[in-house]
Amino acid sequence: MSTKSDRRSFLKNATLLAGGAFSAQSIFNQAYGAIFEDLSAKYNAFSPSELAVQEDYWSTIQQAYSASSAPVLNLNNGGVSPSPMLVQQAVERYNQLSNQGPSYYMWRILDQGREPLRERLAALAGADPEEIAINRNATEALNTVIYGLDLSSGDEVIGCHYDYGNMMQAWRQRQEREGIVYKQLDFEFPIEDDDFIVQAYKEAITDKTKIIHVTHVINWIGQIMPVQKICRMAHEHGIEVIVDGAHSFGLLDFKIPDLEGDYFGTSLHKYLSAPIGSGMLWIKKEKISKVWPLLCNGQPKSENIRKFESLGTRSFPIEQGIGEALNFHNGIGAKRKEERVRYLKNYWAEKALKIPGVKVHTSLKAPYSCAIAGVSVAGMTPKDLETNLFSRFQIHTVAIPYRSLSCVRVSPHVYTRPSDLDKFVRALGILAAEHATQNMEEKGA
Ligand SMILES: Cc1ncc(COP(=O)(O)O)c(C=O)c1O
Repeated sequence: MSTKSDRRSFLKNATLLAGGAFSAQSIFNQAYGAIFEDLSAKYNAFSPSELAVQEDYWSTIQQAYSASSAPVLNLNNGGVSPSPMLVQQAVERYNQLSNQGPSYYMWRILDQGREPLRERLAALAGADPEEIAINRNATEALNTVIYGLDLSSGDEVIGCHYDYGNMMQAWRQRQEREGIVYKQLDFEFPIEDDDFIVQAYKEAITDKTKIIHVTHVINWIGQIMPVQKICRMAHEHGIEVIVDGAHSFGLLDFKIPDLEGDYFGTSLHKYLSAPIGSGMLWIKKEKISKVWPLLCNGQPKSENIRKFESLGTRSFPIEQGIGEALNFHNGIGAKRKEERVRYLKNYWAEKALKIPGVKVHTSLKAPYSCAIAGVSVAGMTPKDLETNLFSRFQIHTVAIPYRSLSCVRVSPHVYTRPSDLDKFVRALGILAAEHATQNMEEKGA
């Protein structure tokens, strides 16, 4: 039977848990505080690109992820990324707590962590906390804006065929329902010419254009789009820009306002490694009032960004787990993470390029890609390649048979080891050699 003092100390612990991700009591500090301090002291003098090749440093990061010892090698972190163990533990802890007395612990204890969390997300985004809404994923963040803007029949929106499916569908729904005009540009990626991309958007503008929708990192093959240049050009024409940052936030080292867009939505469960089912919306302060919330709110035209958070009952453990993911991310440092992941992508891609019959479908130049690249083997469809990599080599990737693209998408993360990528390159070599023989036999050579 629990005593009064047990209950008091439990309540005190509960309060610490709610604010825990932001304090010395965080699981991060308990588990990694000293380790990260030692690592920082040891590698302080290294630039991010010098640190990118220090395997000793990165092995500590790898060990923090249970995914690094999984039987299947996950090379689809672009789809959704695993969390480090400390983030998983935080979610479990908060979940256990929630189940002690859901409405009390979720609304009155854990929810108290929302404002500190908003501040910490804002700090990473380089934004005002009053511009940050916390939600469940990039689809929710961006659909909020897509459906929330007043547009009339005949108003035009410019996107491209390589934007994400859920966003294209949202625009098509508005087209079908309200008669807006949704135009989509076509591109042949990879492209190493920002001006060419900006010009393509510019040429599609008419006096009816109200919005440009642009994907920061194209999910299909990892092309980084020149978002800031597109925004500057759009603003010169009085056009607003919605930026899909699902693959960029928590990976590329940038501040959201520096992109100069008007709206930005992202998943936090991709490169930030936050709990699965977490996302974020940023809206430039002066634009908040004109966006209708997706779900009901008593003051739909208010300037308060919290109007986008009327989700009803949701997973507070997942939300509060974001704090530990921020601790882990900041413990590494944004630029270091970007450089390491880009190094890992180039590590496998440069080796793969030397294998006859293997083609890489993504620019390897730093301004145009980071984590994601596409690869194909002559004589194999994307699905054949994905299936063979999985069934014979236990490597998980994703097939991209889409419009002009025919490849599999490969996306390592900070917990991926170079030796994992060696295994992947060996698999590509074996498959390419088998298909080279097959191709020759078929040709009767
Ligand atoms: C470019 C892009 N935008 C948005 C999304 C949707 O993300 P979420 O599943 O978090 O809604 C994805 C998912 O992969 C994506 O690749």
